[in-house]
Amino acid sequence: MDPMTFVLFGATGDLAKRKIFPSLYNLFLDGKLPSSFSVIGLGRREWSDYTFQTHIEQSLKTFSRRLPNETFRMEEFLRVFRYCSLDITEYEGYQKLLETIQRREKQLGIPENRMFYLSVAPEFVDVIISNIKESGLKSGSGWKRLIIEKPFGHDLKSAQDLNEKLNRAFAEEEIYRIDHYLGKPMVQNLEVLGLVNPMIQAFWNNQYIANVQITASETVGVEERADYYDQVGAIRDMFQNHLLQLLMMTAMQLPEQINAKEIGNEKRRIMEFLRPLRKENVVTNVIRGQYISGKVQGKPVVGYTQEPGIKDSSMNDTFIAARLWIDDPFWNGVPFYIRTGKRMKEKLTRIVIEFKNPLKDLYTSQNKVTSPNLLVIQINPNEGISLQLNIKNPLTNQIEPVNIDFSASSKHVPEAYELLLFDALRGDSTFFAHWKEVELSWEWVQPILQAFEENITPLYAYHSGSMGPDASDQLLQEDGFKWWES
Ligand code: BG6
Repeated sequence: MDPMTFVLFGATGDLAKRKIFPSLYNLFLDGKLPSSFSVIGLGRREWSDYTFQTHIEQSLKTFSRRLPNETFRMEEFLRVFRYCSLDITEYEGYQKLLETIQRREKQLGIPENRMFYLSVAPEFVDVIISNIKESGLKSGSGWKRLIIEKPFGHDLKSAQDLNEKLNRAFAEEEIYRIDHYLGKPMVQNLEVLGLVNPMIQAFWNNQYIANVQITASETVGVEERADYYDQVGAIRDMFQNHLLQLLMMTAMQLPEQINAKEIGNEKRRIMEFLRPLRKENVVTNVIRGQYISGKVQGKPVVGYTQEPGIKDSSMNDTFIAARLWIDDPFWNGVPFYIRTGKRMKEKLTRIVIEFKNPLKDLYTSQNKVTSPNLLVIQINPNEGISLQLNIKNPLTNQIEPVNIDFSASSKHVPEAYELLLFDALRGDSTFFAHWKEVELSWEWVQPILQAFEENITPLYAYHSGSMGPDASDQLLQEDGFKWWES
């Protein structure tokens, strides 16, 4: 891997503490960082290098999946970190930053390869990008890359504006947009699954598959993010990005070559074939919900509008379920159901593929009902996969469903950020959100945003601790299906 400087904007923030430092540390322990690696942390506070390094050490003790118990390795790791106080809105600071980086590059004898990581609020992206460009940080020999976190806009127009600003300084191939769902090991496995299992590859189409169900349920409520969440709702916070990315990863056909460009093309193809929703059709295909009080895993919780910082009159969506159709030759006629919500019964992310069951009627006539074959890809909390088949139980002589299971305990599995950072460091953008996908996703959700804004769609209440409003179950019942719960 190339030697480089990792320039972290927002180094004193929450994401750096919880995810970025622990991920870098785990990569370091696994020998996956470049041999010459320099990190410059940037923040508003007047910190010394020592204060910064102590802060990182503390974050590892609290958030790393591997405890930093080997002190000498820890010291070696911390040695690469330097701190620079920067007011990100002031141009002069960037020139000072450039000098600091160049000094360090000389000291370490490393080329001008620079990775800029923007872990900052969206309103600062614009000014940072133009200052990076104007100050000369982006110039010089060596490659330059940009890692950026969601949100990538608030709607189609703002996403296009943001992208245009990014493109003033960085080319698309230099931009790594993090969607942390793409870093989850079982999501990355989706691609391999077909590749190494001809059986799955052969069945991955409308001839055999009856429907696909994608669920990302959470037990947490709005937490301390009222200001942010009440503006975005489940549709922007989860659906437009994470859930549509899961849909693309599930539905795409394997390209001949597995690389960022080909995977990007395949994902884009799915979005292009996604049947557009007209505003007036939102009501029959999209269910929006908001949680009211209830019990989540035994604990009583208040409703959304009683949460601190949320107005009584808020019509924000904390739950979305939708029916989507991909009108290509592979998926024509197969409904994809997607749902996500806060304060639901359990924390769960999974994809269920329900196979067609042509034998159902035959066995029913003999009083034996068979369950459909199900392929379940478990993404969270544990990573796993299971296949439900029917067998005749030799003990009872009855036909019964059995599960063939694999499950890995999350403790030992690398975290999403670890996998994504490693890829970005080595210049592989396969599991990042590419602009075209982001743009097409906003385009697809745009009529939903409008329908919500104009209140054309009802806002269904659901009890905290449930799996969402009844209307979400009815959406599948209309097509003769039901959600497969765990
Ligand atoms: C984030 C959302 O992108 O993903 C949060 O902003 C949500 O609201 C989180 O809680 C869920 O991520 P995970 O990995 O816990 O499923």
